Amino acid sequence: PTTAIIVVAAGSGTRLGAGAPKALVDLDGRTVLRHALDGVFAAAPMQVIVVAPAGHEQTVADELTEANRDRGWRSAVVTGGETRQQSVAAGLEALGEGIETVLVHDAARALTPATQIDAVAAAVTPDAGAIPALAVVDTLKRVDGDAVVEAVDRAVLAAAQTPQGFPRAVLEAAYARATAAGEEHTDDAALFAAAGGFVRRIPGSERAFKITTPADLERARMLLHPPTA
Ligand code: C5P
Repeated sequence: PTTAIIVVAAGSGTRLGAGAPKALVDLDGRTVLRHALDGVFAAAPMQVIVVAPAGHEQTVADELTEANRDRGWRSAVVTGGETRQQSVAAGLEALGEGIETVLVHDAARALTPATQIDAVAAAVTPDAGAIPALAVVDTLKRVDGDAVVEAVDRAVLAAAQTPQGFPRAVLEAAYARATAAGEEHTDDAALFAAAGGFVRRIPGSERAFKITTPADLERARMLLHPPTA
């Protein structure tokens, strides 16, 4: 395969308050990371790089081995950094020869359908990236402290998800540029765009939500095992 996916799983999960790195929190006997990897390994073949929290590399490697059991895809575990951007950079360092398209995926989006991963990979071109995004449903306000300043037109907004896909060479150049400039971006699409890259939007999916809070954890567990009446 000429596609690789970097699954970033090195976050601390402070907002989840589960006392363990978020990716290693149990959902239903399987961790957040294991569910994310099951989605990855149900997609078209690619190289898989998992970015682990420091000190948890072996646990992550065991999960990867298990998810890769019937696949035997080229895969590796690397140690993450202080920020998500540093974790992605560590993943980029581990890319093999011949990779032309790189997907960057949050392990925390544990229930992302394999079809979304394939769709992003298919939408990347040699000079443009692609990200899945959902329409915004809430009425959004610009605020200043406790004052509501104005409504923001949600028609021109979209909520970004992952995986986010890019041509490898252009993404590597964009990372080198951001690192040299000391810039920290909120996602890879922003970092790519800051270097002048074009990013295309494709439809996202409700199931690709990011597990951040205890309520998100509850939602993921309900989706996996809906209560029966
Ligand atoms: O914190 P947040 O939920 O936005 O993190 C998004 C993804 O980035 C998660 O999968 C998390 O594990 C990963 N991450 C990382 N290294 C960091 C911070 C976050 O790999 N230093």
